[in-house]
Amino acid sequence: MREYELSPSLLSADFGYVMRDVESITPYCSFLHLDVMDGHYVPNLTIGVPVIKSIRKHSDLILDTHLMITNPEEFIKPFADAGSDYITFHVECTEDPVKLISDIRSLGKKAGIAIHPDTPADALYPFMKKGAVDLILVMSVRPGFGGQSYIPESTVRIADYRKRLDENGSDAILSVDGGINIKTVKEASEAGARLLVAGSAVFGHEDPGQAAKELYSLIGVEV
Ligand code: DX5
Ligand code: ZN
Repeated sequence: MREYELSPSLLSADFGYVMRDVESITPYCSFLHLDVMDGHYVPNLTIGVPVIKSIRKHSDLILDTHLMITNPEEFIKPFADAGSDYITFHVECTEDPVKLISDIRSLGKKAGIAIHPDTPADALYPFMKKGAVDLILVMSVRPGFGGQSYIPESTVRIADYRKRLDENGSDAILSVDGGINIKTVKEASEAGARLLVAGSAVFGHEDPGQAAKELYSLIGVEV
């Protein structure tokens, strides 16, 4: 992994030409972010298992699956079998996040935990310990839709988590999701996010590959 990575969010791609869009970012990126919404935890529906399975067949990118669903326990196996590499669930959506992390790892996958911007930051403090989780996802918009503006308070949250992860010697990947674009990418990366999810700023662009390249150059990564 480079010091900073983008995880372009497929949510803003043209689903009629989905592999064309995935291939356009493939020369520059290693990750692809896949937003799964169930119409319950968030007021929107998106893609699910069959789409991820098909993308897996045609792409070697690291598939970063973000579950915005109320009952993640029931779906980790299908999303693992579909070929996800990272499976991230919301701390708000499970009674036993520790067990869920361990179940995801038992399926041979990396486990991530996400937090809604309205949930107090301390809900994730137990996961700052070394080895507790593989990825921490700070939502910098209210989950549900692409194209929203970055919530400025997210920067303090990222910096707080960065400090705690470093103090504990944790190598969990700190990721940020929502409103990341040419104006905000530097702020989020300087605060300590290492995996920057960007949907509309990449796939909303007429040339997603060039858009990804430009975002990388703003954070000093040559691709
Ligand atoms: C929002 C999703 C995001 C979304 C980000 O609920 O989790 O991954 O695609 O889109 P942008 O980058 O447009 O804010
Ligand atoms: Zn997402």
